[in-house]
Amino acid sequence: MKAIQVGLLGIGTVGSGTFNVLKRNQEEIKRRAGRGIEITMVADLDTARAQSIVGPGVQVVNDARAIIANPDIDIVVELIGGYGIAKQLVMEAIAAGKHVVTANKALLAVHGTEIFAAASAKGVMVAFEAAVAGGIPIIKALREGLTANRIQWIAGIINGTTNFILSEMRDKGLDFDVVLKEAQRLGYAEADPTFDIEGVDAAHKVTIMSAIAFGIPVQFDKAYVEGITKLGAQDIRYAEQLGYRIKLLGVTKRTTKGIELRVHPSLVPAKRLLANVEGAMNAVVVNGDAVGTTLYYGKGAGAEPTASAVIADLVDITRLHTADPQNRVPHLAFQPNTLDQAMSNLPVLPMSEVVTSYYLRLRVADEAGVLAKVTGILAEAGISIDAVLQREADEVGGEGATSTDLIILTHDAREGTMNDALAKLQALPTVLAPIVRIRKEELAG
Ligand code: HSE
Repeated sequence: MKAIQVGLLGIGTVGSGTFNVLKRNQEEIKRRAGRGIEITMVADLDTARAQSIVGPGVQVVNDARAIIANPDIDIVVELIGGYGIAKQLVMEAIAAGKHVVTANKALLAVHGTEIFAAASAKGVMVAFEAAVAGGIPIIKALREGLTANRIQWIAGIINGTTNFILSEMRDKGLDFDVVLKEAQRLGYAEADPTFDIEGVDAAHKVTIMSAIAFGIPVQFDKAYVEGITKLGAQDIRYAEQLGYRIKLLGVTKRTTKGIELRVHPSLVPAKRLLANVEGAMNAVVVNGDAVGTTLYYGKGAGAEPTASAVIADLVDITRLHTADPQNRVPHLAFQPNTLDQAMSNLPVLPMSEVVTSYYLRLRVADEAGVLAKVTGILAEAGISIDAVLQREADEVGGEGATSTDLIILTHDAREGTMNDALAKLQALPTVLAPIVRIRKEELAG
């Protein structure tokens, strides 16, 4: 049978990896897919570089639309990124009846509803395993492997750059800015790392997982997003003394009121596997009512790990493209015609309604009655304290210092209630600096 013909839009790191892995493992992939899969066209602005990667047997063009217009191309792989031209080209490819594979989390988290609706109307597949956690087959696991479950929650380390930075901060006791510079020098962090360090990249990924897990539309605009730029080495150290590590987590959770969808630094008990995911690695924990807690770990970025996911999508499409569209796996796991029942009833909760526990650090005047005032305000708000640590002046300010750090772990509280309590605490004349608040996830069972 004739090989499935693939056109690549963009041949950077992931495109080159895809080309190389597809070539290296072509026989095995063919036996799995039932027919060959060949990249026959590549579009890239730097045609000379692209040609040098793919060799003379592949047609290289500088106009992506030449691929979309080619009737011999079955699958278009979009590796351009962003919401601009990438969106136009994906929509045009769908309109031209092409199946699409994309690693573009930003595009799907923001415009997924429109893209999946267009694909369903046209009877084509849009596959995106590479969009979340690179080489880890988490989309496959959520959409197919765990399909029996009522999923309760997902928590993931889904940004390698920030996990690398946090690991280095903990290992070496360094502050964020110092480690970021080092990460850039080593090529772990982009020249413009904003999306990574501000939590946006992780929020794109957790938005997609949330939609698949709970049968809700992709709603990036409703996600709460907080990055790691304000974390200090001091809090990482105190957290460690209390038995926790700080990780940037993407969390999505089913509650009786709706769906939590959030990215922020979190304390995680040091004994959890997730707390021990170090460097640029990714890991996702999924809790389902039948299966319990499952963990998926691996490389979240890089040429061949991401190519592994792109090619898995190419194989899926090759196997399924002749199937009746009704019999394919739905883009977001739930049949689109059940959206009214399954999807619309579950709102994404505003952050003020999220319930979690907290780490608080207050720099306070070291004098009688201060602790009583602080605990009094928390008690008044109905916020229960789990643990208190006081670091004496010699640890925080040198001998003779008149301030001390109070570190408080709380039990679960509503974020809105905590915000009100924090405002009152901050207004105390004995609280000498902005209060540090970091959320805490026990991730039990
Ligand atoms: N910039 C991402 C990360 C990789 O650091 O994990 C691609 O999503």
